[in-house]
Amino acid sequence: MFFVRMLTSTFVTLLILLGTQELFCSKVTTRTNNWRNFRDDYLSASQTCYTLGFTKERRENSLKAKEIIAFDASFSSSMTKIKSGQRLVFALVDENINHGYNARTGVFTAPGSGVFVFQWSTVVTGTHYIQTVIVVNGKKRALNECNTTRANNDSCTRMAVVRLAVGDKVWIECVKDNSAINDYKSSAFTGFRL
Ligand SMILES: *[C@@H]1O[C@H](CO)[C@@H](O)[C@H](O)[C@H]1NC(C)=O
Ligand SMILES: *[C@@H]1O[C@H](CO)[C@@H](O)[C@H](O)[C@H]1NC(C)=O
Repeated sequence: MFFVRMLTSTFVTLLILLGTQELFCSKVTTRTNNWRNFRDDYLSASQTCYTLGFTKERRENSLKAKEIIAFDASFSSSMTKIKSGQRLVFALVDENINHGYNARTGVFTAPGSGVFVFQWSTVVTGTHYIQTVIVVNGKKRALNECNTTRANNDSCTRMAVVRLAVGDKVWIECVKDNSAINDYKSSAFTGFRL
């Protein structure tokens, strides 16, 4: 560990020296293309440590992983005769940290990579039903079936854990013709990165 620290501080010193060299010697012809190449290759001490294998992760990635990605949206009105293959658009957004969710299309696009938790609820009444799936990059992942003969608004909830890369797309889709959503206020789509 001491050896690693010593090497790291040696590199930091070297980089500071190189920076100083540029500041004070910019008009002097000693600044060669080789120095510039060296500096370009080793942009920072952490980059250097990563390149040499002293650290397993790039620093900018671990910082990015700490940023919150989360959204919470609900339905804006009741719907009947929802068709199989139709995407559900949860148009009322309560929270959309880092803007992954698009309330106009109903599609969440991962602004960062990682493991995400999604949960969605659909509510039906009487003899209505709705069957939905969570779709990840066009692939159906988890089914949420809702079928009630009760007069109360019945809520059906499903949770899914999904590993996503940046730009992966997730949405909720109906998989049964003539589906319905009765209590739109309780029908919601939420997601966040762990
Ligand atoms: C809903 O449930 C009833 C009986 O519990 C069944 O007869 C009906 O086929 C179901 N509807 C769907 C769409 O699965
Ligand atoms: C079901 O939800 C709808 C819409 O929010 C509401 O108008 C209706 O009264 C609810 N039905 C029952 C039985 O609670």
